[in-house]
Amino acid sequence: MAVTRKKLIEVALPLDAINAASRREKSIRHGHPSTLHLWWARRPLAAARAVIFAQMVDDPSSDPVRFTTKEAQERERERLFGILEELVKWENTSKRSVLEPARLEIQRSWERMCADNVDHPHAQELFRCDRLPAFHDPFAGGGALPLEAQRLGLEAHASDLNPVAVLINKAMIEIPPKFTGNPPCNPESRSATELVEREWGGAQGLAEDVRYYGKWMRDEARRRIGHLYPKIKVTPEMVRERPDLSSYEGRELTVIAWLWARTVRSPNPAFADVDVPLVSTWMLSTKKGKEAYVEPVIEGDSYRFGIRVGPPSDPTTVRRGTKSGGSHSPFVCLISGSPMPFEYVRTEARAGRMSSRLMAVVAQGDQARVYLPPTEREAALACTEAPWQPELQIAHWPGRTNVVEYGLTTFGDLFTPRQLVALTTLSDLLGEATNRIRRDAAAAGLPDDDRPLRDGGTGARAYAEAVAVYLG
Ligand SMILES: C[S@@+](CC[C@H](N)C(=O)[O-])C[C@H]1O[C@@H](n2cnc3c(N)ncnc32)[C@H](O)[C@@H]1O
Repeated sequence: MAVTRKKLIEVALPLDAINAASRREKSIRHGHPSTLHLWWARRPLAAARAVIFAQMVDDPSSDPVRFTTKEAQERERERLFGILEELVKWENTSKRSVLEPARLEIQRSWERMCADNVDHPHAQELFRCDRLPAFHDPFAGGGALPLEAQRLGLEAHASDLNPVAVLINKAMIEIPPKFTGNPPCNPESRSATELVEREWGGAQGLAEDVRYYGKWMRDEARRRIGHLYPKIKVTPEMVRERPDLSSYEGRELTVIAWLWARTVRSPNPAFADVDVPLVSTWMLSTKKGKEAYVEPVIEGDSYRFGIRVGPPSDPTTVRRGTKSGGSHSPFVCLISGSPMPFEYVRTEARAGRMSSRLMAVVAQGDQARVYLPPTEREAALACTEAPWQPELQIAHWPGRTNVVEYGLTTFGDLFTPRQLVALTTLSDLLGEATNRIRRDAAAAGLPDDDRPLRDGGTGARAYAEAVAVYLG
């Protein structure tokens, strides 16, 4: 049995400082792993850093020879808290002057542990002062713990059942050290470096290439499919109907979302040819002072969608959309009010009679969202021809992948043609960017040895694959 001392985490933690730093992290937009890839159960880096430090560092009460009184132990604990409180701050994330004292404390506690276990039968293997213990998170998820373990100087390992989590962890802790200190290989940085000599520390060269080839992909995507995403002009006619738009009159706004409603044929025989919408709420924005909602305008056996701003006069009806009651209740026909039980909607959808209709356009205004009514042009743009569509079947997991019950059986069914065009274009561009990077990396002097990243390569091919992980 190994001899262990009581660790700081078993006695006390400066929780207020850790909580404040964890809260602040949520609003960080640059340089945080959360911007690398979405992960649904992300843990704050500050909390991960704090718990690893406090698990590695001895509590002063475990050293009664050095800290003889309770007061002396408390003073030492306060000193360790001081290190921890600085350590958890976002702005100190890679500050050497903050990380070094923390690493030193970890090393000191480790040396005590090695001394305590000098007679352990595997001491030579397990308790060597010159080798900190390795850290392994077998359920690493978003990777906060292994990343912070690596930052604190431990050899970090991560694994997970989910391949997305594995990719995130590779991108954070495995790939950057392979190319540490390498200069970027993109032609722009190389010609600039010829003019002014500069050092590329850590993963700076890799990061520079991610920025360069990322920009290349974005510019190229804009050139190839930008025509499918035109800006929307606020015309005098629009302002006449919506005086709240007056400050935007004549301006062209970037569209950030199109809101669609799925439709099925009305069950009412009098309107059997009309595709009526399945809408769980008409509210577009419920934020106080910024309320906006869709107003369906029924004209005989057809309807159109208008947009209203401000709080609705009948909030219950507006919040309900075309539902008959609460969020789990079935829909009703917008035109006739006839009930549409779930089974009716499913049968219609499976028979290929489910369609969709554009309900609203969301544009970027001046630090605000601008909700606009749909136009034929906006709807037509989304219905462009898709060159390819994924045919992979969606596994039916009742309660989770219910789309299958509505006839949406392949992944391709989940996207509009324009979304498929965008996804295909971006995947094509990723392949093209990888080839470019490989050529540029070879020209920059990396060995063009054809050894892939997964087999431990560090040449031009592996480097191109590494940059592509971040671009993808
Ligand atoms: C709560 S998350 C971990 C969060 C992580 N500590 C973080 O900071 O983001 C739990 C993870 O365990 C993974 N998981 C669940 N069962 C697993 C198994 N049998 N083997 C490996 N990983 C598993 C899940 O995919 C998920 O990513």
